[in-house]
Amino acid sequence: MHLRLPRDWELPESAVTPERDYHLRPRREFLKTAGFGAAGLAAAALLSGTARATTAGFPTRVNPDHRDPNLKPTAYELITSYNNFYEFGTDKAEPKVLANRGWTTEPWTVTIAGLCRNPFKIDANDLVTKLGGAEQRVYRFRCVEAWSMVIPWDGFPLAKLIALADPLPEAKFVTFTTFLDPKSAPGQRRDNLDYPYFEGLRLDEARHELAFIATGIYGRPIPNQNGAPLRLVVPWKYGFKYGKSIVKIDFVAKQPRNTWQVMTPHEYGFYANVNPQVDHPRWSQASERVIGGGGLLGARQRTLMFNGYEKQVAALYAGMDLRKNY
Ligand code: MTE
Repeated sequence: MHLRLPRDWELPESAVTPERDYHLRPRREFLKTAGFGAAGLAAAALLSGTARATTAGFPTRVNPDHRDPNLKPTAYELITSYNNFYEFGTDKAEPKVLANRGWTTEPWTVTIAGLCRNPFKIDANDLVTKLGGAEQRVYRFRCVEAWSMVIPWDGFPLAKLIALADPLPEAKFVTFTTFLDPKSAPGQRRDNLDYPYFEGLRLDEARHELAFIATGIYGRPIPNQNGAPLRLVVPWKYGFKYGKSIVKIDFVAKQPRNTWQVMTPHEYGFYANVNPQVDHPRWSQASERVIGGGGLLGARQRTLMFNGYEKQVAALYAGMDLRKNY
């Protein structure tokens, strides 16, 4: 099988596009306008034919606990045009083009199965409604290739979905199977990875309050190239854990293997926690290139332990050797 390893690519031309779409609104202002504004937005999106009920139909509540004023969100244009989505090409600019050439992500059914008391199958939009709508969280995003962004995600805490499924005591891990549709996805036809792209978390990691399922970005429906309509977000881990376009979530007893671990086990492990002290075999993880951060190649900054979420998540790994469990 042909395997193209992730590389630290040059910035595309779009990197110079200034942010013009969006400003994070202060919470008070958001609350004032949430009802009318959200309805208006939904109507506008429907009229323009770009609506996805998953986010367009739901007001996003800004969660003040997940809005660090020191984080400067990356431009929408960059978040949605500099992508890793091997199903739609291995070049950063390809997914935006190839994932929008007839690939349909609505309607979309997701199946919740395995070791749980309440397995179910549900439409992605109905799932968001059932879980009480979407909220927004601004998280750091760190790719294993040593570049980073700051992304305002819309979606719901994964813990809410897990509570609904009600896992059995034997369930120790959660797996995320993403879509398989070689007719729509040229990368799957070329077999550039082992498909479907697959990821897993320990159940306690998945229940952590930071673990999230994204359905939107900047208050807009999540674009196909970013993993529409449901995509995992685990901000203290490298980006390859964030499985895109999920079709199945399973509760299992044994630690699963994920796609990149299957492809190159000496380079990628199960945990994939951001750790500046444990280098990738081929490059340092001590620092990262900030996409859109200025300069031709983006500014460089120090990488933080657990991507800056050490206070919140370190306890999950107490006593573990993080060099062995990379
Ligand atoms: N999910 C699927 N299904 N296929 C992929 O190729 N790439 C992963 C992850 N999720 C990938 C995926 C990698 S390597 C990264 S860094 C992130 O998605 C990139 O997310 P972004 O394009 O939204 O920045």
